[in-house]
Amino acid sequence: MKILFIGDVVGRPGRQIAARLLPRLITRFNVDLCVANCENAAAGFGLTPKVYEQLKAMEIAVITSGNHIWNKREIYPLLDEHDALLRPANYPEGVPGHGSCVVSTYAGERVAVLNLMGRVFLHALDCPFRCAEAEVAKLREEADVVVVDFHAEATSEKIAMGWFLDGRVSAVLGTHTHVQTADAAILPGGTAYMTDLGMTGPRNSVIGVNKDIIIEKYLYQIPKRFDTAKGPSILSGAVVDIDGKSGRANSILPIRMEDE
Ligand SMILES: [Fe+2]
Ligand SMILES: [Fe+2]
Repeated sequence: MKILFIGDVVGRPGRQIAARLLPRLITRFNVDLCVANCENAAAGFGLTPKVYEQLKAMEIAVITSGNHIWNKREIYPLLDEHDALLRPANYPEGVPGHGSCVVSTYAGERVAVLNLMGRVFLHALDCPFRCAEAEVAKLREEADVVVVDFHAEATSEKIAMGWFLDGRVSAVLGTHTHVQTADAAILPGGTAYMTDLGMTGPRNSVIGVNKDIIIEKYLYQIPKRFDTAKGPSILSGAVVDIDGKSGRANSILPIRMEDE
């Protein structure tokens, strides 16, 4: 089966390029399931119910997230209501929502998606490694294919998670940095790995934000309102080909498509 995983969708530019290119990608690569990290989909920060509906209308079966999911409170009730809308699983007990789900492909094959967040240069969450171990054991009882979105800052923490879960899940794909890495690989145990899928959003920006605002922030060190950049966009992600029976990944193909 082919799973298309889209990296952090940023604001309207990200939603628009996803809406334009997803149908083409799904046809071209015979995609069975589409997953996207959408923590920045509403004006660059968080998610709203309206934006959630727009994303679901694009054939995105599972929406993952990260630290920015908390920026817009109106999404909190939806985190509890919708099975396939995830926040990282290693937040403490009592936080709205859940970190994993099991869905079916168009052909009816079961796929589990697990969302985790790193702790290096991020929040002091529960250990993502121990959480991964417990969640994967549970999810493997329900699905042969488990795909992990590891939303983390530090390359080393992400690579370590790849090795930690090698042979136990079908893919460990990184999000959060908004910059695609050139290290897509199938690890020896059969897990597809990529440190970061990259961003789906405005290309001429600093990780999605208007570049002039960020340059000014670095020059003067005064807090500024972050606005999503305008102009041409890029869609980033990867297509992972997985053996639906064994759960082993056959290949991983990074995707980077610009506006035409
Ligand atoms: Fe992000
Ligand atoms: Fe993030």
